[in-house]
Amino acid sequence: MAAARRAHRTAPELAAPPADLVAALRLALCAWFAASARDLPWRRTRDPYAIWVSETMLQQTQVATVIPYWERFLARFPDPTALAEASDSELLAHWSGLGYYSRARNLRAAARAIAEQYHGRLPRRLDELLGLPGIGRYTAGAILSIAFGEAAALVDGNVARVLSRLFALEAPLGGALAQRQLWALAEQLVPPAGLGPDGPGAWNQALMELGALLCVPAQPRCLLCPLERWCAARQQGRQAELPRRAERPEPLSVELELLWVLDRQRLLLHRRPEGGRLAGLCDLPTREPAGAGRLYPAEWPHAGLESGEFLGELRHSITRHRIVARVFAGRCSTPGGALPPAAGLQWVPESRLGSTPLSGLAKKVWARFGDRATPGRSGQRPLRPGG
Ligand code: ADE
Repeated sequence: MAAARRAHRTAPELAAPPADLVAALRLALCAWFAASARDLPWRRTRDPYAIWVSETMLQQTQVATVIPYWERFLARFPDPTALAEASDSELLAHWSGLGYYSRARNLRAAARAIAEQYHGRLPRRLDELLGLPGIGRYTAGAILSIAFGEAAALVDGNVARVLSRLFALEAPLGGALAQRQLWALAEQLVPPAGLGPDGPGAWNQALMELGALLCVPAQPRCLLCPLERWCAARQQGRQAELPRRAERPEPLSVELELLWVLDRQRLLLHRRPEGGRLAGLCDLPTREPAGAGRLYPAEWPHAGLESGEFLGELRHSITRHRIVARVFAGRCSTPGGALPPAAGLQWVPESRLGSTPLSGLAKKVWARFGDRATPGRSGQRPLRPGG
C-alpha cells in the first residue's frame, strides 16, 4: 500500500486532493494562523506596493533582517512614483546589506513601468504583474492574494517543504517535476477569492508561516502542527527524509585581501562597474592574490596602493562563495592621494559612509574594524597617503 502511494506521488500528474480534505486543511491551517501568526509590519497593511516590497525583500533574506529595511525603504519611497525617481546611490544605500541587488534594480524598473503604464498603481491582473521586471509567479501570487484577495496560488521554499511532506511528494525539490506538482497542488488548495481570515492571502501566508515556524527543514515540530493528522510524511515517519533535495553546487572558497585606506577622514572606496556583479556598490580596495580571479583581480585596483598592519579576518558568504577576508590598514602612495581616473576609486568622507551604497562585505568590515582602523578613535597612528 505504501509502495502504491509512493508510486502515485512520483507520477507526473497527481490526482487532485479530495474536496473534503481540502476543506479540512483550509479550516485547520487558517485557524492556526489566526491564533499563531507573527505580528509582522507588512501584515498590518493591504497596500499592494508595501506588500510587493516586503515579498521582494523576503526572497533570500530572513524576516528579522528585513523588518528595519522595509520600514526605512517605505519611509523614503512610500509609493511606486517615489521609487521610480530614486537615484542609483539612494536606492542601493537603502538596500545595502540585503544582498542580491538586482532585486532593488528590478523594483525600481518595475516602479517606473507602473508609474508610466498604470498611473502609479500596481495592476491587479496576473499577466500584467508578470510583465513587470522582477515579478515572477511567486511575487505575483503574493501580491494578488494578500493585497487584493484574489484566488492566486504561490510556492516558495517554505510552501514547497510543507506540501512535499503533507502529500509525501517524491520528486526532488528544484526539479521541473516537483515545480509542476507543487504549483498544481497549491492551485488546487488555495481558497476562493476574499480578504478575510480564511481567504487566499491568509491561506498562502499560513502555509509559509507553517514552513517558517513548525514544518522547518530539520526536526519539524510535528506535535504542534495543525495539519499533523493529514500529513502523509508524518504517517509514514518520513518527515526527516522529505522533501528530497536536488544536488546543490559545491561551495567555493575564496580568500580576499581588503584595504582600509583612510586619508583626512576620507575612506578609499572602489565603485563596482556597471553591468557586472554587485554593480554600482562600493567595496574596499580588494584583491584575490591566490585565486583564479573568480571574484576579484589578483592585484589592487591601483598600483599606488600598499598594505600595512593586519587588522583582522572575517567571513562572509555571497551566493555559493564562502569568503575569508583578511583586512589590512592600507595607504595610497601617490602624491596627495591622487587616483587614476579609470580605476573606479574614490575618496568618500567617513561622515558619508552611512549614506553610501556599500557592499555587504564592506559594511561588515566597517562595523568590525572601522573603529580600530580609524585614527583618533582608538589612538592609532594616522595612516596617510605617502606617509
Ligand atoms: N515569507 C515570505 N513572505 C511571507 C509572508 N507573507 N508570510 C510568511 N512568510 C513569508
